Amino acid sequence: MDGIGPMLYEGKAKKIFAASRPDQVVQYFKDDATAFNAEKRGTIIDKGVINNKVSERLFKLLEERGVSTHFLERLSEREMLTRKVTIVPVEVVVRNVVAGSLAKRLGLQVGEAIEPAIVEFYYKNDALGDPLVNDDHLRLMNVATPAVLRELRDLAQRVNVVLKPFFAERKMQLVDFKLEFGVCHNKLILADEISPDTCRLWDMATGESMDKDRFRKDMGKIEEAYQEVLRRVCG
Ligand code: TMP
Ligand code: ASP
Repeated sequence: MDGIGPMLYEGKAKKIFAASRPDQVVQYFKDDATAFNAEKRGTIIDKGVINNKVSERLFKLLEERGVSTHFLERLSEREMLTRKVTIVPVEVVVRNVVAGSLAKRLGLQVGEAIEPAIVEFYYKNDALGDPLVNDDHLRLMNVATPAVLRELRDLAQRVNVVLKPFFAERKMQLVDFKLEFGVCHNKLILADEISPDTCRLWDMATGESMDKDRFRKDMGKIEEAYQEVLRRVCG
């Protein structure tokens, strides 16, 4: 790795830079936090460092368990070398417990267990506010074929089978999480990040949120919660 090249893309929480190899990129994790389609903005001190390390640990675990990811190597506190992929514009959400938008949309009781876990698709489009969509919508928009959607669902469930017990062993309930996938050499692989920004994690002892909900809902002690997730995941 001979240093990083020009910036290719800047998102809300990460920047993507060219790497020395054309088939690789560098993900740089920022401390910037947004919620509600960037209507709310702030900073979570050292979030970038924590999300980089937590993602590294979880991607390595998933690779060990046979789930292909874009992860190659953590380069520094805030930088991760990954395979270059074409991101599928679908946010794949897995839910083990009722919370967040599911509770609101369907009037279900927060905290109710969902068994077996459910998978939802959101169309990744900031201008539209990432709407919830079904398979037919995604097929209509030529975003994904039924075969690709079947594979996304299957991969998301496999990730859940690995992550749910991993977090439980560390006394955290994996309530729900969001995944993004990319295409690399005609194959779907897990991309983006898996972190307290993209998961709901509840402390099994106290029920307290240890994730970005603390920022979304102004609950305070955000940095402390992220540090504690890092300690339990990587410590
Ligand atoms: P939701 O209940 O707000 O739909 O969120 C479900 C999960 O997806 C939760 O773990 C947070 C995560 N998420 C993201 O990673 N990015 C987003 O933009 C949203 C809305 C949720
Ligand atoms: N990251 C998303 C945004 O800013 C929302 C969220 O995670 O709640 O819009």
